[in-house]
Amino acid sequence: MKILGFFGGPRVEGKLSRLLQRALEGAESKGAEIKRFDLINLNIQYCRNCGNCVFNDSDLPLGNCPINDDVHSILEEYLAADGHIYASPVYDVFISALMKTFLERKMMLLYKPKDAYGIPAPRRPQNFKKKASLIVTGNAFEEYDGITAREIMGDPCFEALENTLMLEQIDTVDKLYVGGMERITEEILAQNLDEAYRMGIRLKEEIEKVLE
Ligand SMILES: Cc1cc2nc3c(=O)[nH]c(=O)nc-3n(C[C@H](O)[C@H](O)[C@H](O)COP(=O)(O)O)c2cc1C
Repeated sequence: MKILGFFGGPRVEGKLSRLLQRALEGAESKGAEIKRFDLINLNIQYCRNCGNCVFNDSDLPLGNCPINDDVHSILEEYLAADGHIYASPVYDVFISALMKTFLERKMMLLYKPKDAYGIPAPRRPQNFKKKASLIVTGNAFEEYDGITAREIMGDPCFEALENTLMLEQIDTVDKLYVGGMERITEEILAQNLDEAYRMGIRLKEEIEKVLE
């Protein structure tokens, strides 16, 4: 079983990166093969909406994209993997632009018959089920008028990630929001690193149930 991590922050040595790494290590501890993609270090250009990947060659597992960057090879591994862990910082009450840019390029996993509009279908067998877990970090941690920071900052990010995963029929196992990141104590960070590790274990176990 292979589980991939997608890191959508700019600080590869930062705390969110450590949370993702721990989650991957949790999955690895139960026998999963792991690999991470630090999006900041990859060549990921903006989708240009040429439509080629969606409307042409709809028999291909991965649509033809004329942009010559790293996304096609990342998505080949994405298609072959069993599970995914997404990690994004909250930027301006949403996922990072880096993560969003990558999500938009996943368009080439989908297809539509020419002239058809609406919700696109995935280019893979309908009964193929994958799972994902999500990690989001922000500075906000207080309650605002009784609404938690997780709800204000985390939920828009989780929703963005889950909506795109829904198009691929990928269910979410866990969603971890960690707030107060710039001032987090070692003790609280350690607790969240432990939780990330358990998330990795759970993701591996949940995928196993589907594959059985
Ligand atoms: C441009 C920018 C926008 C941000 N917007 C938010 C925000 O809307 N809400 C929030 O809670 N934190 C926000 N933050 C804080 C980041 O989410 C936080 O620094 C990051 O999660 C820390 O993770 P790291 O140490 O691994 O980089 C923002 C940071 C930057 C640089």
